[in-house]
Amino acid sequence: MADHICPVWVGYLLASPVRRIFQSPDKIVGPHVKEGMTVLDMGCAMGFFSVPMATMVGADGRVVCVDVQEKMLESLRKRAVKAGVDDRMNVLNCAENETGLEHLRGDVDFALAFAMVHEVDDPEALIRQIHSLLKKGGHLLVAEPRGHVSSGEFDDTLRWSAEAGLTTVDRPAIGRSHAALLKKSD
Ligand SMILES: C[S@@+](CC[C@H](N)C(=O)[O-])C[C@H]1O[C@@H](n2cnc3c(N)ncnc32)[C@H](O)[C@@H]1O
Repeated sequence: MADHICPVWVGYLLASPVRRIFQSPDKIVGPHVKEGMTVLDMGCAMGFFSVPMATMVGADGRVVCVDVQEKMLESLRKRAVKAGVDDRMNVLNCAENETGLEHLRGDVDFALAFAMVHEVDDPEALIRQIHSLLKKGGHLLVAEPRGHVSSGEFDDTLRWSAEAGLTTVDRPAIGRSHAALLKKSD
């Protein structure tokens, strides 16, 4: 695995309940995820956001969880079973530069890319792929860690997003992060 990718041992730290003190899934994604939605968690790791989002979408919704590291996904699958939400989760291992999600084109109501864009080889291509998967009017919440990503680098992400057709509609305050809520134009 490339050296810019989050190691599996950090995945365990990211999935720790202690993280909820400064990054609460209820506060961060709760306002955007509703029952019955199709949600994408891009770079989901061990599912710190995926598992709560699976509760939020209910039995009629689904959360598509995608990561390049199978070891992260193995742990996520166990956590999903333990939480009783595995029935509404699709957990998929993708390639570095290809999501493999063409079957979801135009189906996704809400996508999350949390602390992952800076790890991707070709972030512009990733943003274009996420745009193609969103419904018209669907949203992408992108957040990047202030410790690893400068304001200027995050501005680049927002510029690539605008070029792909994703308009910034909010700049939510998220602990230790740069963040933006983007909308696919109608
Ligand atoms: C820092 S972790 C963040 C995980 C999770 N979003 C969270 O906030 O807990 C970044 C994750 O993105 C994944 N990742 C990196 N590049 C990726 C890519 N091109 N496609 C999908 N996942 C990727 C890594 O394997 C890692 O699990």
